[in-house]
Amino acid sequence: MNDFPDLSLDPERMPRHVAIVMDGNGRWATRRGLARLEGHRRGKDSVRAVVDAARELGIPYLTLFAFSSENWQRPSSEVRFLMQLLHRYLITETKRMMKRDIRLIALGDCSRLPAQVQKALRETVECTAGNRAMTVALAVSYSGRQEIVRAARRLAAEVASGGMRPEDIDEFAVASRLDTAGLPDPDLLIRTSGELRISNFFLFQLSYTELYFTETLWPDFREREFLAALSAYQRRERRFGSVDTAARPPLRVAN
Ligand code: FPP
Repeated sequence: MNDFPDLSLDPERMPRHVAIVMDGNGRWATRRGLARLEGHRRGKDSVRAVVDAARELGIPYLTLFAFSSENWQRPSSEVRFLMQLLHRYLITETKRMMKRDIRLIALGDCSRLPAQVQKALRETVECTAGNRAMTVALAVSYSGRQEIVRAARRLAAEVASGGMRPEDIDEFAVASRLDTAGLPDPDLLIRTSGELRISNFFLFQLSYTELYFTETLWPDFREREFLAALSAYQRRERRFGSVDTAARPPLRVAN
């Protein structure tokens, strides 16, 4: 931990789950007169830096919003580049994840990804499945609304087949049919680049999440900025709708 600036983080009050909307790659590049793709390339280095920092800090769950369902509408050359970047990331990072005891899981409609990306994703997920120190959830081709629709369809099918009654459907039943089943709800959501939006991300899961927005563009978001976000989180008072500062969230989705 010696490389990190002292932001007086309390190890007892670390978030269990941090989710990040990685935004601003394009602006980072255009401000430098570079092609947007260069911003994505640099953004990949921030992914590595933040995963390493989270692992070192003992944060057990980290979700990275890497590609939204809406991102398919971007120019095909940019989509192709992002898919190549993701493919290369999976190939190169699997070894590092094994060394660091990191498990990778995927959220979203992965069936839309190119076949070779699906294959690499499947292989990394399988290879790292037994790792326990940290879970990195990669949200790719992800849409919060579509995820809720998929969960609703699953529940409807279970009711139609007689496996469950409508009155059995509660928050836990919905949560356990989302892509994030088994993960705790995020304690902290970080969005970079100054945009103050949720953008169809984790619509069910963010109910009691602390939100942190920073002007820093994703390619510039490294350990120092991550620690600043965690420090801001630790200064928040979480009451979950109660007056009691020791209150717990009304729904803990996971283990
Ligand atoms: C948003 O910036 C970023 C993306 C749509 C892609 C995120 C991808 C990476 C961080 C790099 C690769 C990731 C992995 C996991 C290998 P933007 O292009 O919307 O930026 P802008 O709003 O400035 O245009």
